[in-house]
Amino acid sequence: MKDSPSVALVTGASSGIGWELARQLALQGWKVALVARRKERLEELAQKIAAAGGQTLVVPADVGQREQAERAYRMAREELGMPELIIANAGVGRPTLVEPAVNLDDVEEMIRTNLLGVIYTLSVAIPDMVARRRGHLVAISSLAGYRGLPGESAYCASKAAVNVYLDGLRIHLRGTGVRVTTVCPGFIKTPMTENNTFYMPGLLDASEAARRILRAIERGKKVYNFPWHVHLMVKLSRWVPDRLMQRFLSKYNEDARLSATRTNLSNDAK
Ligand SMILES: NC(=O)c1ccc[n+]([C@@H]2O[C@H](COP(=O)([O-])OP(=O)(O)OC[C@H]3O[C@@H](n4cnc5c(N)ncnc54)[C@H](OP(=O)(O)O)[C@@H]3O)[C@@H](O)[C@H]2O)c1
Repeated sequence: MKDSPSVALVTGASSGIGWELARQLALQGWKVALVARRKERLEELAQKIAAAGGQTLVVPADVGQREQAERAYRMAREELGMPELIIANAGVGRPTLVEPAVNLDDVEEMIRTNLLGVIYTLSVAIPDMVARRRGHLVAISSLAGYRGLPGESAYCASKAAVNVYLDGLRIHLRGTGVRVTTVCPGFIKTPMTENNTFYMPGLLDASEAARRILRAIERGKKVYNFPWHVHLMVKLSRWVPDRLMQRFLSKYNEDARLSATRTNLSNDAK
C-alpha cells in the first residue's frame, strides 16, 4: 500500500485491461478516477473497490470528445487531488473492410478514440505536470502498431500513430520531470478479443496484463512491449513479403469480415 495516496486517472476503466489497471492501482492505495462512457459499469467497479477499502471517482466521458476528456481530468483534480498518473487506455478495435466498401464510420471511430482520445486525455494534464515538475503519462497502444495487417488497417494505423506521438512527447518533455510510457500489449483476453476465432499466440488474461503494465510503469519504462515472443514475431513480420502475409492471413481476413458482420448486426440491434 502507498503511504500517502496519489491520484491516478484511467480511461476505459469499464472493461478489460482498464478495469484491471484501475482495480489493481486502487488496491495499491491510489485514488483512482474511473473514466469511460458506461456509467453503470464504472459504478460496479467503484463499489467493488470501495468494498476492498479503496477510493475512486466515477467520471462518465467519451474521450473522443475533447471537452469531455478535459472535463474528466478537471473533475478528478477537483474531487481527488492533482493526478500524478494518467493512463490513456480507452480504445476500440473493429475490422477495416474493403468490400463492399471501406467501413469509414468504424475507421473514424478508431482514429477518434484510439488516437485523438489518447492525445486529449494526456494533453490536458501536461501544464499541471510541467508546473509541478512531476507526473507520468501512459498510453496503452498495441503490438499491432508495428505492422499493418489486412483487415486491421485502421486499428494498426491508430496504434502506430500513438507510438510515434508518444515518442515525440517523451523527447519533448525530457528534463521537465514528466515521464512518458508507451505500452504495447499482444493478445489479451478481454471483450475486445472474445469473438476472435483465430489462434492468438501468447494470449494473457487481463489481470496478468495489468500486473505487468503497472510494473513497467513503476520502473519508468519508455516503451513496454509484451509478451516478448509475440513482439519478436511482429518485428520479424516486417520482413515478410506482402504475398506471404496475404497467404498466412487469408483466414484472418475472413474472420475480419465475420466480426464486422457481427458488429453491424449488434449495432443494428441497438
Ligand atoms: N485486448 C487486446 O488483445 C489488446 C491488445 C493490445 C492493445 N489493446 C488495447 O488495450 C486497450 C483496452 O482494450 P481492452 O482489450 O481492455 O478492450 P475492452 O474490454 O473492449 O475495453 C475498452 C474500454 O475502452 C472504453 N472506451 C471505448 N471507447 C471509448 C470512448 N470513446 N470514450 C471512453 N471510453 C471508451 C470502453 O468503455 P465504454 O464502452 O464504457 O466507453 C472500455 O472500458 C485498448 O486501447 C486496446 O486497443 C488491447
